[in-house]
Order: sequence, then C-alpha cells, then structure tokens
Amino acid sequence: MTRGGIELIGRAGATARLPEFGDLLRIALTAQGRARAPYSKFNVGAAVLGGSGAAFGGCNVESASYGATICAERGAVVGAVAAGETTIRACVVVTPTADPSSPCGICRQLLAEFGPDVLVFAASSLSDSVYVATLADLLPLSFGPGNLAEAGRPSAGE
Ligand code: THU
Repeated sequence: MTRGGIELIGRAGATARLPEFGDLLRIALTAQGRARAPYSKFNVGAAVLGGSGAAFGGCNVESASYGATICAERGAVVGAVAAGETTIRACVVVTPTADPSSPCGICRQLLAEFGPDVLVFAASSLSDSVYVATLADLLPLSFGPGNLAEAGRPSAGE
C-alpha cells in the first residue's frame, strides 16, 4: 500500500530496502525496553544510521514537566552527533502500536536537518508491519538550512 510516497511493507521488505534495517531494528527494540515513560506508558525506541555506518539508539525520556520530554528519535540523533556523525542516512522508530506510529512533527523537523533523503522506517514491537518513507515524503516543503542560506544567514557547516 502506498500513501503519498509512504509505503507499508514488512520487516523483510524493509531489509530489502536497507540491509542495515535488521541491526537498526534490534537496537531500537533494545532502546524501547529502556524507555522512561512513567506518564504516557508509551515506550518508544529508535535507532539512526550515521554516515560512517555506525548505528545509535535512543528512547523517549519523559519529565514530570511534560514539555521537557524528549522523543526517542531525537535522543538517537543527539547520540549520533555526540559520537561524531555529521550525516544521518536512516532512522528506525519502534512503537507499541500494531499499526506503526510515525515520528512526531518536532522529530521530523530535526531529521530534516540531515536532508530530504533520510529514510525513515516506522516499525512496531507488536507486529511485522513497517512503513517506509523519505523525510521529503513526511515533511514536504520543509523549512531547512537552505532557507537560512537563501537569506544570507550562516548555514550548517559555516
Ligand atoms: N514519542 C516519541 O518518542 N517519538 C515520537 O515520534 C512520538 C512520541 C514519545 C513522547 C512521549 O514520551 C510518548 O511518546 C507519548 O507521546
């Protein structure tokens, strides 16, 4: 099934699309088990694939001051950048919904920093279902470094 460039595929289909999918899924599932979600009880795990080929996990960490909560995907991005990655090729997110939940708007925006071709896989810890889409599919006409560059402001890498 395809919806605006977003395809529903299984785990095997995801591996056919990206050979590293299995490793990323395993890391995301481990991270999901470590999520700190005492308020929502909605454990999320993520893993990103850096340009070097290394993978980094993340989980949601909730705060009693709800707005301070950080999502799993952004946690994984922070880990990758802190480890020295300058590019991100793919992100896998795992949610406890049989129909996989895809990244929230803030996470899409942060992932967009790494370009429109970042491949996003939304997987489930309860089913074989996986959605795959590019960042451009998930966040069309997004605001990004190019907009700042166009206005003569410092852009990424400057
Ligand atoms: N959450 C994520 O970790 N990633 C998303 O893309 C959506 C939501 C977390 C935040 C919060 O801890 C819980 O899921 C419920 O919103």
